[in-house]
Amino acid sequence: MCGIVAYVGKRRCRDYIIRGLKRLEYRGYDSAGFICVDEKHKRFSYFKKSGKVSDLEKGLDGFEHDGFVGMGHTRWATHGVVNDCNAHPHFNCKKNISLVHNGIIEGYEEIRKKLIFEGHEFVSSTDTEVVAHYFSSIFDFYKDLKPAILDLVSKLKGAYSFVLSMEEYPDQIVVVRHNSPLVLGKLEDEIFVASDLLAFSDKTKNVCFLPEDSFAIIKKDSVDMYDFSGKKILPIWQEVKFEFDAVDKQGFEHYMLKEIYEQKKVIDNTINFCRLIGTDSKLSANTKKDNSVDYKIDLEYQDRIWQQLGLSLKQVKNLKKVNLVAAGTSWHACRIAQFFFENFCKIPASVYLASEFCYMPLFNHEDSVYIFVSQSGETADTLQALRKVSPLSIPTITITNVPSSTMVREADGFFPMQAGPEISVASTKAFSSQISVLYLLANRIALEKGLISLEEMKRAEDDLFVSAQILEQSIENYKYKITQKLANKYSKFDKFIFLGRHISYPFAMEAALKLKEISYIFAQCYPAGELKHGPIALIDKSTPVVLFSSLHEIVYKKIISNAQEVKARSGHLVVFAFDGQDELINLANTSFIVPRVNPFLGPLAMTGLMQFFIYQITKKLGCSIDKPRNLAKSVTVE
Ligand code: F6R
Repeated sequence: MCGIVAYVGKRRCRDYIIRGLKRLEYRGYDSAGFICVDEKHKRFSYFKKSGKVSDLEKGLDGFEHDGFVGMGHTRWATHGVVNDCNAHPHFNCKKNISLVHNGIIEGYEEIRKKLIFEGHEFVSSTDTEVVAHYFSSIFDFYKDLKPAILDLVSKLKGAYSFVLSMEEYPDQIVVVRHNSPLVLGKLEDEIFVASDLLAFSDKTKNVCFLPEDSFAIIKKDSVDMYDFSGKKILPIWQEVKFEFDAVDKQGFEHYMLKEIYEQKKVIDNTINFCRLIGTDSKLSANTKKDNSVDYKIDLEYQDRIWQQLGLSLKQVKNLKKVNLVAAGTSWHACRIAQFFFENFCKIPASVYLASEFCYMPLFNHEDSVYIFVSQSGETADTLQALRKVSPLSIPTITITNVPSSTMVREADGFFPMQAGPEISVASTKAFSSQISVLYLLANRIALEKGLISLEEMKRAEDDLFVSAQILEQSIENYKYKITQKLANKYSKFDKFIFLGRHISYPFAMEAALKLKEISYIFAQCYPAGELKHGPIALIDKSTPVVLFSSLHEIVYKKIISNAQEVKARSGHLVVFAFDGQDELINLANTSFIVPRVNPFLGPLAMTGLMQFFIYQITKKLGCSIDKPRNLAKSVTVE
């Protein structure tokens, strides 16, 4: 989604800002802009354009202006179509105040009408331009930055972070944060600003996350920070360890393919990380004379994992309900994990779509926990859901891939996923990493509750290792067939139906989402049992039905019936089945067969193959795989 990069310092800023914008490209955007205070004339010099950062860069070729203060922006359209005019920066009437902005200003039409009445002239259809004009009129009254900003933020509603530059103050910028992240980086006589640390993580790791509801007036050697009541606050600078430097495709054609292949390593790392912080390093195993293994528990390590999650051992033992909140692919991972918590821990688990959660009544259940699952840790819907729960006395935990994210800072506890940077917009390895973390967590809770033994916990980990191997091996098994034959065949269909049952239903939803988002082929997903309640009317030869099997015997039998229902109507059936499920396999036009695993890990074992199949279909269609149209990697508006 939108990205902000800004700079104040002793060097010329243009190259750094363009590089920073390129590092944020993976988040998704449709236009880009650059502005600096020209070093010679101390006037604004800018260029903005719809299209890629490389188009902006080309447009700046031969543009001699550069400066020591500048801002850049990548826009993901929310208000107003994609065109050069709606790209950022935006200005006031005199064009001596400029602004780049992330987020959404609520009720901006009213402010706009009022300003038009007062004589302001607007050139774009964005909410951002309204802020530039509004600030200008407030500043004309106060003639002083601090009271003007305080007045502005008291009037603005919505979620925003912005950077503001004024010709009147050519050596400084103002940064403002409300419900949308901004981070500062520091070197001697240089301050970097970005909406995502990745923009400058190759420059400095000495960073300060602008606190929620605060602003700062920044010069190259000073950061004056205030909260929204006007109270001065001390910037907290910290060294970040976890952030990633630029990653390349390492010989893969797309990031998505690279990330599909990284999943085995990611799952292995997740198991090892859990052991490190308490899952297994606390176990000491003694082989007894009869060759059975006697596991012992080390209490110091036992507590560590719960400390990390912000829970006491007592709270874990007494846990009576788990609530999971997420969006998109992360929500699908949570829907799969619901089966883990309910079956291993024997407690109810509710899974909420973050975008709907905000409208639901909230019940202060004792002995429950809220787990917010987000690859980016910045998804606006999920963050708002976390903020809704935070004031209650219920523990909150964030599971995310980005330790420096807002959700980590705002939740009581945090569990870092071990996926590493996920650059492709379509989530792959974050999904398998989330399933692995939640699977291990559910087993750990079951262990503390005395529902499984240490040996069973060990076995659960081993099952996860095996599933990771199968995830990778299955891609290899079908690589030739998919690339040589099946991708071409299935790229010719323009709609698909996906079906799953029990734990394979949320997995089918994930498969349908993957197909839709990268190939733009229409896909609809149903629980297989719902077929006969309506969707069966859609079955015909030209709509492949992709059915995901299960290793639960009763569920499997029902899945066979669903497959028969499809075949009886001359439907085209594609099945993802497990070894030995011949009755189902024999019904299929195309089948993918995966070795048997722990039934709860069936979806994980099929993950690589499902993603690879969809990736190859999309490649045949020639779509922009890593950056699908209209999508953003980090969805920071509600
Ligand atoms: C789909 C995808 C999205 C995200 C969703 C939530 O491939 O990536 O559906 O899963 O936008 O994002 P996070 O996990 O960052 O909260």
